[in-house]
Amino acid sequence: MVYPGAAEFVPDTDDLGALAEASQACKGCDLYQNATQAVFGAGSRKARVVFVGEQPGDQEDKAGEPFVGPAGRLLDKALAAAGIDRDDVYVTNAVKHFKFEQRGKRRIHKTPSRTEVVACQPWLLAEFNAISPEVVVLLGATAAKALMGSSFRLTAHRGEVLHLPAENATVDLDADPEVVATVHPSSVLRGPPEDREKAFDALVADLRVVASLM
Ligand code: URA
Ligand code: SF4
Repeated sequence: MVYPGAAEFVPDTDDLGALAEASQACKGCDLYQNATQAVFGAGSRKARVVFVGEQPGDQEDKAGEPFVGPAGRLLDKALAAAGIDRDDVYVTNAVKHFKFEQRGKRRIHKTPSRTEVVACQPWLLAEFNAISPEVVVLLGATAAKALMGSSFRLTAHRGEVLHLPAENATVDLDADPEVVATVHPSSVLRGPPEDREKAFDALVADLRVVASLM
């Protein structure tokens, strides 16, 4: 399915509040239909670091705020362990509406498709252009592929200091931030209990690379 994309819904402004409000009217792909609301990024426009997740989860969809559920709590713990102040960061997602499958009363997360990620990218780029971050942190494969290209392999490049690929025509940014890709915090929660501590420590190690760039 080819979607019209968000571009025609994104106002020409670098006011994050105005962008967030406008995102509520986006019909750039089908995901607005079943979600409660768009979940825009949160944080200060003066933030030097922007964290990009995948999409809002069940709790974020209801609250209208990114990273307030279990993955957000784990991210907060990892940021604290890496010595990064949550007030210094802006957090957002590659896709602004929650994609899920209804199973009884539960809403089960579904990974957004590449076309949905591409459809939603104008919002992300508007956030980047409003903030001009020095560092962009990509949390998980969806965010990493959204900005580094679909052939990007997270396992091969996590924790490295990268730059957005110039040849990626979908990325048209005024600035050239440093980029660090790492795992999604929910992958730490999903893994086998005996591996969790190791996975958490590896996430923190990648975030220490981010801290060194700030
Ligand atoms: N997972 C994400 O990728 N983003 C959120 O906001 C919450 C969970
Ligand atoms: Fe628009 Fe993104 Fe929501 Fe799709 S997911 S409707 S592109 S805001």
